Amino acid sequence: MNRRDAQARIDALRKEIRRHDHLYYAKDRPEISDAEYDRLFRELSDLEAARPDLVTPDSPTQRVGAPPLDELKKVPHERPMRSLDSILDREDVLAFDKRMHKELGESHVGYTVEPKYDGLSVELVYEHGRFVRGSTRGDGVTGEDVTINLRTLRSLPLQLQSDSHPPARLVVRGEVYMRLDDFQALNRRITERGEDAFANPRNAAAGSLRQLDSKVTAERPLVVTCYEIMGQSGQLPPTHWDELDALVSWGLPTPAYRRQCATIEEVIAFHRETEAGRDDLPYEIDGLVVKVNRRDWQKRLGEKSRSPRWAIAYKFTPRKEITVVQDIAVSVGRTGTLTPLALLKPVEVGGVTISRATLHNADEVARKDIRVGDTVKVERAGDVIPAIAERIEVPGQKRNRPFQMPDRCPVCGSAVAREGAYYYCTGQAACPAQLKGSIEHFASKSALNIDGMGKKTVAQLVECGLVGNLADLYRLRKEQLIELDGFADRSASLLLDAIAQSKRVPLERFLMGLGIRQVGQHIARVLAEHFKTLDAIMATDRETFESVHEVGPEIAASLESYFKEAHNRQVIQQLRDLGLTIEAVPETGPAARPFAGKTFVFTGGLERFSRDEAKQRVERLGGRAAASVSKQTDYVVAGAEAGSKLDQAKKLGVKVLSEAEFATLLEQN
Ligand code: IVH
Repeated sequence: MNRRDAQARIDALRKEIRRHDHLYYAKDRPEISDAEYDRLFRELSDLEAARPDLVTPDSPTQRVGAPPLDELKKVPHERPMRSLDSILDREDVLAFDKRMHKELGESHVGYTVEPKYDGLSVELVYEHGRFVRGSTRGDGVTGEDVTINLRTLRSLPLQLQSDSHPPARLVVRGEVYMRLDDFQALNRRITERGEDAFANPRNAAAGSLRQLDSKVTAERPLVVTCYEIMGQSGQLPPTHWDELDALVSWGLPTPAYRRQCATIEEVIAFHRETEAGRDDLPYEIDGLVVKVNRRDWQKRLGEKSRSPRWAIAYKFTPRKEITVVQDIAVSVGRTGTLTPLALLKPVEVGGVTISRATLHNADEVARKDIRVGDTVKVERAGDVIPAIAERIEVPGQKRNRPFQMPDRCPVCGSAVAREGAYYYCTGQAACPAQLKGSIEHFASKSALNIDGMGKKTVAQLVECGLVGNLADLYRLRKEQLIELDGFADRSASLLLDAIAQSKRVPLERFLMGLGIRQVGQHIARVLAEHFKTLDAIMATDRETFESVHEVGPEIAASLESYFKEAHNRQVIQQLRDLGLTIEAVPETGPAARPFAGKTFVFTGGLERFSRDEAKQRVERLGGRAAASVSKQTDYVVAGAEAGSKLDQAKKLGVKVLSEAEFATLLEQN
């Protein structure tokens, strides 16, 4: 390829990759699979590697690579980054509204209401469409320069969409945060390495962004959303709502979940609805931010020294409560990890009764100095297993001895080994807890989906010695099952049918089911789409794994060691000999992805499918399942007793399908 052709192809690829980043992060409606994205990315990296002279700093490949810093530089903000006053009650929000009317002398004041993200605030500066600087809030006047760290966030465009004419200079404010599922996975990863878990997604986001080495930030699942223009050359949009739309058009991610409210009653209703559905959002929010919509009115209302007069944080009931640690138990996971667990005096936190909290690992217990009998504050974020935020000193109280990890596995009595703060049982498949855990995982809905193979059945099969590895599941015979407690002729046949039905399994589910450390649903899909067959994966070495987009060194190491282990290879061979067919991934043409670009939201109870199944069906056809309804949603599938999401769909004019209509749509495709 000559230089001109290479330049043209590079430009086209960069444009295409930016477009897909924008579709994925700002619009929440990807058009291509992760594997297709990977291919584009690899083609660009290869071309740039061959032509280093054509590499520019705003190329999507140039997000990582700056050398580690000695310290984060201080930078002054464009304008002071103010905070928000917050309120909790209906009376206070009514009072706020009254104040707005009075100070403006207007009879109708409209608001834009959006989530109050629980992350950390950043200032982003774009010059001539290029991201040039980003900083943390700091003391509000001076922040820390985290430009190179922010560059690693795929949701942050390095280059604005030039065809929508962004201003020559643009300063925006946004929030960097972590999604709840990403936060949990990150905590699992780092505690398995023996490092301290983060107490909540906000701490995780702050700790990940304020790093001296941007390579660490690059490995952390941070996302950014923008909610305020702090300065721009040229004219500002007339309302806050338009301001958010303008940000979207320039390619910046903004809150997709937001509403325009003409009255304060509408604000209150939106608040009530959002708080009730709080656990459905994929990230933690601690309330809503209510902003006077018109910018000229915002200006008239002005600012106080710490906060603007035209906006308020309308918080939710906090999800922290105080209780007592009654005991500390130790559980054994399917990979053998020993996890200390605080057994609490039951307490209601944000509407849910909590009686257990994870303590992550021994170091964490020591660091927080939690002992049996202590008074503690527990915190619940979304559906995360609650964690102990801190211990509360009770003056004069006599305390118990510090907690110690057992030196024998509490389940099988094998020796406990230690790697840093991470303790594990050395019993492997000889440890019933590990064996049971790995079988439950293999049979679970998102893996082989063996109906009826629940916790209780797995426990029976392991305890009576019928199942000693994954392959044994396919050796079970009816006369053996009938002998078991609670099994009769019919139930035994049903279970055997379910096992037989699982014998054809898509590669990604099989991979996920193996329970390889660090390989969850997402990475399993990435691997399956990339390698297409299990044999290809089993023949791959660490470096090749690492060359796959999204597969980092730790995942690569874990994969390599799993497939190197003779025992694992044997079990896979036995599974195949017993008739398990692991389906290779077909080449994905557009015909195989009829739902590409379509977003579905499920609400209410479904009868024919579990939520997981329904989502997987959609994803298999190239679509996407989202947690909340927005203008971007294509279909809302409403089951029995559908709630606020259905109302939201009707309000936004999103197409609503019954379960039967959804099933028909699947069949047609
Ligand atoms: S507006 C002058 N909007 O909440 C406007 N802030 O307690 C000030 N925050 O420091 C900010 N989500 O970090 C605004 N949608 C949102 C927000 C938001 C989260 C944070 C922000 C601020 C803190 C105030």
